[in-house]
This record gives sequence, C-alpha cells and structure tokens, in this order.
Amino acid sequence: MRQAGRSLPEYRAVRGQGTILDVIADSERATEITLQPVRRYGVDAAILYSDIVTPVWAVGFGIDIVPGVGPVCENPFASASDLSRLRPLVAEEDLPFQAETIRAVLADSGVPLIGFAGGPFTLASYLVEGRPSRTYTKVKALMFGEPELWHRLCDALADVAIATLVDQVGAGASMVQLFDSWAGALRPEHYKEFVLPHATRILTEVGALGVPRTHFGINTGELLALMTDAGADVIGVDWRTPLSDARRRTGARVALQGNLDPALTTGSWTVLEKEVRRVITDNGGHPGHIFNLGHGVLPESKPELLARVVDLVHEEGRC
Ligand code: CP3
Repeated sequence: MRQAGRSLPEYRAVRGQGTILDVIADSERATEITLQPVRRYGVDAAILYSDIVTPVWAVGFGIDIVPGVGPVCENPFASASDLSRLRPLVAEEDLPFQAETIRAVLADSGVPLIGFAGGPFTLASYLVEGRPSRTYTKVKALMFGEPELWHRLCDALADVAIATLVDQVGAGASMVQLFDSWAGALRPEHYKEFVLPHATRILTEVGALGVPRTHFGINTGELLALMTDAGADVIGVDWRTPLSDARRRTGARVALQGNLDPALTTGSWTVLEKEVRRVITDNGGHPGHIFNLGHGVLPESKPELLARVVDLVHEEGRC
C-alpha cells in the first residue's frame, strides 16, 4: 500500500514538488524515503518506494502521477493501436534505478524489503480511464465490449508486472505484492472471466522465484475466494471484511494481511487501541497473519499514532 511516507515531515522534505516519478527514478532519494518509516517506526519490513504505474511510465506509455489526484494519462488507451505503446519491459534498461534502490536499501537496513507491481484491472483502469475513476465506466466498456482487446491489454500488463517483479526479486526483495486495488469494482463472475486468468499467470510465473506472494484489493470481500485461486501465499484484506470471515472465504491455504481501517490512524488513541486489539482478537491466534492497515496510510494519519500501533502489535501480536 501507499504506506507511511506521505504522513511524515521527513518524507515531504526529501520529496519536493512535482511528480513522484522523478523521485522514484532517483535512487538516492528513493532509498532514503524507503528507509524513513523503518527508522521511525521499527516496522518489520520496508516497502520499495515506487508506484504501480512506474513500469508503464518506464516503457514510455505516457502516464504521470499528479499530486493529490493520482495516475493520469493524457492519451488514454483506446484501441488496438495503443498496444504498441506497451512494449515489453527490459528492467535493466528501462528502470535501472529500481534494482539500484533495492540494493542500496538492503545494504543500509536490517529488515527485509517488499517489492510490488500493479494488478491487471487496476493498471488497465488508469490506462483506459486516463485518471482515477469512481465508476470505471470506460474500462468496463472496453472489457465487456471488446473482450479480445481487453485480454491482449491484460497480457501486456501481466508481462510488464512479471518483468518488474523478477527484477525486484533479483535485486533482493524477499516478498512481493500484487496490488489489484480496484478489482472490487467487479462482480465475481466478471472478475473470474476477465481478470483472474491474468492474475494467475503473474502469480504463477513469480512463484518460480521462491518468494512469498501477497495479492490485495480493496472492497474485494466477495472476491476473496477467487483471488485465493490465483495462487498467492497471502491475501490482503481491507477493513470491511472481518479477518474471521476472510479466513472462512480463503480457507487454510493462505495467510492473511490486514486490516485496520486507515481512517482510525487520524483520530484518538483510545479508539485506535481498541480497534487494533479487535483485529488481533479477530485473527484468533492464527499463525498466518501479517498485521497491516486495510489500505494505505493517509496524508492525515498521525505519525505518533502509527508508532503506537507498531509498538502495540509488537507487544500483543507475535504468535
Ligand atoms: O508509500 C510508499 O512509499 C510505498 C510505495 C507505493 C506508492 N504507491 C508511492 C506513492 C506503493 C506501494 C504504491 C502503490 C499504489 N499506487 C497503488 C496500490 C496500492 C494502493 O494504495 O491501493 C495504487 C492504486 C497507486 C496509484 C496511486 N499513486 C494513487 C491513487 C496515488 C494517490 C494520489 C494522491 O496524492 O492522493 C498515488 C501517488 C503516490 N504513490 C503517493 C505515494 C507515496 C502519494 C504521495 C505523493 O504524491 O508524494
């Protein structure tokens, strides 16, 4: 998830103005930003400072990240001719900064690093809609109306995701996450037909690398069983679905990650503490639980509250 960085003054100091893609491509700053939350909070892993759209940007599709808005494309994906804008990613040439940042982070930190890539529906949604969407009208129109083109688009996006993750693991990432954050916009039958085959291919090919794989989306309570079928080792659960329900839906095959409501980290410790304990209790002592927020840290999250969450989870949560 977009994690601790954006609520931290030390992040804002290093980040400067403008697009974060330039900061991501600057290994020195990206390394420092990756390490900031580890130093401040003592969390158990670092997550690479990058974005799900970085590889698509790196192959020259034409995408930017606008502060306060998110990923934006001036010329969205509209027809088969746009497939040529999604050539295969050659990681060492197209994003050499990625491996460089990972190696520098690992040289400096005692914690493992988590790599990540964007899932097919979420990346396609930015490319087709041209900006964050509430209704996903255009991307669904392409999916339902031109299924053959949809699958070719997802094939290209899956290839980019695989090349990205292979490069991250090669540089030392100990775990990878596939973020299909907006897949919850689909009903299960549609997810199964249009997205699951591509998520399965990504997770299967990355499985050969031997690192644990997490698969996450928000509002995916109805999709948890299908997302589990895609083959990850860990399923990320947003705050809407109690972990005990998620456990029933995913079965014994996977560990769970989550699922504190991020909004709680903007308020009072009294309420937050109760809710952290609720998540731990809801897990019921199951060894397969990675405590996390149910989505990313918010710009309004209070650093002192995040620090107390980490401490409490370390006191109470280790199995
Ligand atoms: O936070 C971190 O340092 C971890 C690295 C990370 C970022 N993006 C950096 C970032 C990760 C893991 C992501 C993943 C990502 N990006 C996802 C999947 C996970 C999720 O949160 O659902 C998605 C959907 C995106 C797309 C994206 N990038 C959005 C919607 C936005 C928000 C725009 C905004 O300003 O509210 C971004 C921008 C972004 N990516 C920020 C960070 C730290 C915001 C802060 C900034 O602009 O400096």
